Amino acid sequence: MRVDGQGSLNVPPGFLWGASTAAHQVEGGNVGNDWWEAENASPPFVPERSGDACDSYHRYGEDIAIVADAGLNAYRFSLEWSRIEPSPGHFSRAALDHYRRMIDACLARGVTPVVTLHHFTMPQWFVHAGHWTAPDAADLFARYCSFVLPILREGVPWAFTINEPNIHAAVMALRAGATVPNFLPPPAPPVVEGLIAAHRAARAVLADVPGLRTGWTVANLVMQPAAPEHGPAADAMRWTYEDQFLAESTADDVVGVQCYSRLLIGASGVVPPVGAATTQMGWEYYPAALGLALRHVAAQSAGTPMLVTENGIATADDEERIRYTRGALTGLAAALHDGLDVRGYLHWSLLDNFEWAEGYRPTFGLVAVDRTTFARTPKPSLRWLGSVARTGELE
Ligand code: BGC
Repeated sequence: MRVDGQGSLNVPPGFLWGASTAAHQVEGGNVGNDWWEAENASPPFVPERSGDACDSYHRYGEDIAIVADAGLNAYRFSLEWSRIEPSPGHFSRAALDHYRRMIDACLARGVTPVVTLHHFTMPQWFVHAGHWTAPDAADLFARYCSFVLPILREGVPWAFTINEPNIHAAVMALRAGATVPNFLPPPAPPVVEGLIAAHRAARAVLADVPGLRTGWTVANLVMQPAAPEHGPAADAMRWTYEDQFLAESTADDVVGVQCYSRLLIGASGVVPPVGAATTQMGWEYYPAALGLALRHVAAQSAGTPMLVTENGIATADDEERIRYTRGALTGLAAALHDGLDVRGYLHWSLLDNFEWAEGYRPTFGLVAVDRTTFARTPKPSLRWLGSVARTGELE
């Protein structure tokens, strides 16, 4: 693999080129999960409600057609546990059929479905029963995974159990009242243990599907010391926030690499990116992060195959999105050139969608979504990524 100086990416055969979404951020009307509850609490946990989101629960066919028409060959989406199991032990066959139709729609258009079983949101009943720290949490998650097995048998080659357990756990710590300056509080050890147990239990269930490759995705934070003397502080934080989760991936079939920027670490934790160009999220504009993340993940997960399941930028300037993505893909090409096992690149996100605590303000999408009519308008960056996928050329 090499970047040949003319901007060619020599990706391996079967490389996935696509885009990602997550259920709560695009579906709309996810009334049974903990985020909906927090969005609608008084006072609400976030400034804006997800509401109808992008109405992708009904418009998924259009979304998948946009992916295929752009020349991409993969779509990552998540199943909403609270729809599939709206109350403990009551499973909705209609909800499962919905996700089966999504998988079918992908396959009909030559798009590889990449399925996440849990992307940040939990059924309200699961949270009220003690979430990941309840003694039966792993069994409950595994039972949900068993129920969805039949649809995974129908042509899904890649499944991720839990999205970014590191960020999910840190957000749970925040919601429980913990704070640190300039960043999310550290994941609480009992929550981390619960997530690891749930991941292992889920993988054991999913192993029943022949050929299905499973793992989890980890947020790669690219923590760097702000000055040489902060090396030990950066190492300690990296373990707490990231590497303890990557250590689990050594036993997995795949690890999802999710990376946007870097974090500089000083004596008292994260140092804000003063003076650097930043994105709509306030994160440093740093396309080199993806290449560094791939190298870090490869080292930490002992060479487990990697799939980039998220990378992108929140910006209103689509030219900047193209520049950022070109920079990130240059790092990916160099990693391939050096022999790293990268199986695909899925951009975050297909759509301008609900960005959690930031509401709809940040726009990560390759496709704009009208907030009133839900009309989708592909941006030039979608055409650009599609042409990279088709030609293997970055220019
Ligand atoms: C998450 C996405 C999120 C994105 C941008 C990742 O942490 O998996 O749900 O929208 O980053 O913040």
